[in-house]
Order: sequence, then structure tokens, then C-alpha cells
Amino acid sequence: MAETFEPKNIIVTGGCGFIGSNFVHHVVREHPEVHVTVLDKLTYAGNPENIAGLPVDRVELVVGDICDAELLDRIVPGHDAIVHYAAESHNDNSIADPEPFVQTNVVGTFRLLEACRKYDVRYHHVSTDEVYGDLAIDDPARFTEETPYKPSSPYSSSKASSDMLVRAWTRTYGIRSTISNCSNNYGPYQHVEKFIPRQITNIIDGIRPKLYGDGKNVRDWIHTEDHSSAVWTILTKGRIGETYLIGADGEKDNITVLRAILKAMGKPEDDFDWVRDRPGHDRRYAIDSTKLRTELGWQPQHTDFESGLEATIAWYREHEDWWRPAKAATEAKYAKQGQ
Ligand code: NAD
Ligand code: TYD
Repeated sequence: MAETFEPKNIIVTGGCGFIGSNFVHHVVREHPEVHVTVLDKLTYAGNPENIAGLPVDRVELVVGDICDAELLDRIVPGHDAIVHYAAESHNDNSIADPEPFVQTNVVGTFRLLEACRKYDVRYHHVSTDEVYGDLAIDDPARFTEETPYKPSSPYSSSKASSDMLVRAWTRTYGIRSTISNCSNNYGPYQHVEKFIPRQITNIIDGIRPKLYGDGKNVRDWIHTEDHSSAVWTILTKGRIGETYLIGADGEKDNITVLRAILKAMGKPEDDFDWVRDRPGHDRRYAIDSTKLRTELGWQPQHTDFESGLEATIAWYREHEDWWRPAKAATEAKYAKQGQ
């Protein structure tokens, strides 16, 4: 299917975070006609190093808050699309302190929608499969675009709220929007608070990996590069007002992922600690991405999890300077929570 929208000058919010920065790299590499303005507050999760070295005539960084309406008035005019990644993104943090999640994820999305309304800018909203709650392990069902919303955590409920704002602004004010809900990402530039980088960097540091609960919770892993290509496909070919689920058929339980990391790093498969479970811990996520594949012709390219994991482990081994500054504080926070 031909591209129906050909953006030339886009804003990527959260472009110094994990998935946003991978998307910026993807756009610079694959779409030479596009200029990217990254809008990022540089919270603990944002690192300008993630986009360092990209050509200055292609990528500009504006440090600021998506909740700042005056800043949006200054930078949004002249752009033809906003791709919205910025968020507070970690469930465990949302349980310890939910307020920034409501502020950035709900109020921030509201501000961006208002700016899109004012300046008639196309909007793509990056969301999560966690808005659908969870599935039982033995349930044959997977999430589809029709699954009712049933978020469990402060994080997922703030993302669900933001999705609802997008739908309302689209219907009531005619915002030209699309929404995507993706499953768990892995790859380079992911903060060491998240499951896979936490365990890789623990092993590098000689700390035993930490597994929550019974280790049987299932996540549907997708390489971040496949998430980027899916978002670009939806931005350029997606139908306005539609939601698309993004997934790559990567269901695995946590203990299987952890054992794969231990094996790839030359450790015995039981060389980890069981720790306190996350309150309200979702059991299983699983995505049916048929709509995106059949309507827009998207296919994931990085579905070999073992080789993706090996490349990710190699990236963390080679980029200790990148993750080292965040490691001790992250582990201290977990230790306080008994995790
Ligand atoms: P991240 O925490 O790595 O990065 C978030 C980025 O947003 C950081 O650069 C941070 O500085 C920036 N930010 C935070 N608050 C801001 C504010 N108020 N104004 C401007 N910038 C701000 O997150 P991530 O894992 O890359 O997730 C990105 C998006 O993808 C989020 O919307 C998340 O809900 C969604 N998502 C994540 C996953 C996943 O597996 N991590 C899966 C599906 C969807
Ligand atoms: P996480 O990366 O926090 O992503 P999400 O909560 O969005 O799924 O966690 C992935 C899974 O790994 C989740 O089931 C919680 C579990 N987990 C652990 O077992 N140990 C850990 O140290 C962390 C951070 C997560």
C-alpha cells in the first residue's frame, strides 16, 4: 500500500528515551527526507547520548516538558506531525510514586492534543498493550483492537487515560490521529531499571539476577527496531482515527527469558534470586497484530529472540559508560522495595 502521508518535519517527544531514540535512529537511517525535532525533558530516563552523533541538519534536540503549553506554542508550528513517545514508563516506579505518571502521561498528552488542534498537526500516539490488563496463562486468547480496557497499575491506567483523550479529541475536534499499542520492547538504550537490562548488567556486576513472584508471568517480546518500523508504517499509511496493535509473536515467561540471559552469559541456569512480587503484577500479555499486518502490510524482521538477546547483551557489555551512572541508584531503589 502506498504511503498516504509524507511527513517532512516531525516532532518526536521522548526521543532521548529508549524506544523514542531507537525511532529517531530509524528515521534518520531509513527516511533521509525527514527532519526530526526531539522534545524531551531529560528525566532520569532521558539521555542525550542516545541521539548523539546523528547529523545536526537532520535532528534537533529541544529540552523541555510536554506539559509546557507555551513551549509547544513556540515549537509545534511548522511541523507536520508529532509522534508521542514521552512518558513515565516504569510500572514499579508508578507503584512507589504515581503522581508524575498522571502529570506526564495524562496532562502531557492533553497538552499535545491541544497543540495539534490549534496548529492542525497530525498526531501519532505511542501506547502499550498494558491498557488491556492481563490474560490467564492458559487462555488461548490474545489482545486485539476490540479488547476492552482494563488497566491494572498506575502506569497502565495513566496510559489508558491518555489513549481515551486521543480518541475523544479525534472524534470531537477532528484531530488527525492514530494510536498504537505495543508489547514489551527490548534492545539497545533501554534503562537498567527494566527487566532485561537489569539482569544483564547485574550479571556483568557479579550481582545475582532478581526474579519476581513465581517467574511464570508472560511478556510478548518485540525488538525495538520492529516497533519503530511499525510506528512509521502507521504514521504514513494508517487510517485516521484507528488503533493498531503492534506485536511480533514473542510470548515468553520471565524465567525462560532469564535462563536465556544466564546461558548466553555463561552462568548456571539457577544462578538468580527469587524476590518479592510486584503488587498487582499482570500475569500475561499477548498481542494479535493481524490488523497491522493485513491492512498495512507490516511484518516484523527481528523475530529471532536468541540472536536479538545476544546482540543486546553485547551492546550492554560494550556500552558500560552509558549505563554505569544509573546502575547503583537503580539497585538501591529496588533494594528498598525488597526487589
Ligand atoms: P523511557 O522511560 O525509556 O523514556 C521516556 C522518555 O520520555 C525519556 O527520554 C524522558 O526524559 C522523556 N520524558 C518523560 N517525561 C517527559 C515530559 N514531561 N516531557 C518531555 N519528555 C519527557 O520510555 P520507553 O520505554 O522508551 O517508552 C516510550 C513510550 O513507549 C512510552 O509512551 C511507553 O508507554 C511506550 N511503550 C513502552 C514499551 C516498553 O516495553 N518499554 C512498550 C509499549 C509502549
Ligand atoms: P518490566 O521490564 O518492568 O516491564 P513491564 O512491567 O512493562 O512488563 O518487567 C518485565 C517482567 O519482568 C514483568 O513481569 C516483571 C518482571 N521483572 C522481574 O521479574 N524482575 C525484575 O527485576 C524486573 C525489573 C521485572
